[in-house]
Amino acid sequence: MKRIRITIIIALAVSTVFFTACGDKLKETKEEKIISEKTVEKTMPMMQVDDGRISLGLNPMQKQHQLKNMRSHLEAVQEIIALLSDENYDDASEVAYTKLGSTTEMKLMCASFGDKKFENLGLTFHESADKMSEIFKKRDKKESLNALSNTMNYCVQCHATFRQ
Ligand code: HEC
Repeated sequence: MKRIRITIIIALAVSTVFFTACGDKLKETKEEKIISEKTVEKTMPMMQVDDGRISLGLNPMQKQHQLKNMRSHLEAVQEIIALLSDENYDDASEVAYTKLGSTTEMKLMCASFGDKKFENLGLTFHESADKMSEIFKKRDKKESLNALSNTMNYCVQCHATFRQ
C-alpha cells in the first residue's frame, strides 16, 4: 500500500515537472517566432511573411508585368465610374471590354503564371467584364453599377487568395 502511494507521488512530481517544462518550451518557441518574423521584416524587407495567400512564385519580370497590368485594371475601373456618372454608356462599354474583357492578351496573361486555379479565376473575371460591357449598352445606371460591383468582386476575391 505504502509502495503504491509513493509511486503515485513520484508519478505526480514527474508529470508536474514535465508539463511545466513543456509550457515554458511552448512559450519560448512563440516568442522566438515573433522575434524571427521581426528580424525578417527588418533585415529583408522584400521577403514576405506568410499571410495565408497562395504565392504564384513569379520571377521579377513577371512581377513587373503583372503589376503594370493591375494598375491598368484599376485605371479602367476609375474611367468606367467617371463615364457612368456622365451617362456615357458607349464609352464605358468600350473600356470595359478593351481593358478588362476576355481579349487574347488577357487570356494569355492569365495562363502565363502556371497556376490553374489562378488562371480560372482570372478568366471568370474577364468573362464578367464581357457581360458588364454588354449590360452597359442597356443604359441602365442601376444595372450597370451592379455589373461593375460584380466584376470588382473578382478583384477582391483574387487579391484575398493570391500574391506574387
Ligand atoms: C485572378 C487574380 C486577380 C484579379 C482578378 C485581379 N487582380 Fe489585381 N493583383 C493580383 C495579384 C496576384 C497582385 C499582386 C498582389 C501581391 O503580390 O501582394 C495584384 C495586385 C494589384 C494591384 C497592385 C499594383 C501595384 O503596382 O502594386 C492593383 C492596384 C490591383 N491588383 C488592381 C486590381 C483591380 C482593380 C482588379 C479588378 C478590376 C484586379 N486587380 C483584379 C491578382 C488579381
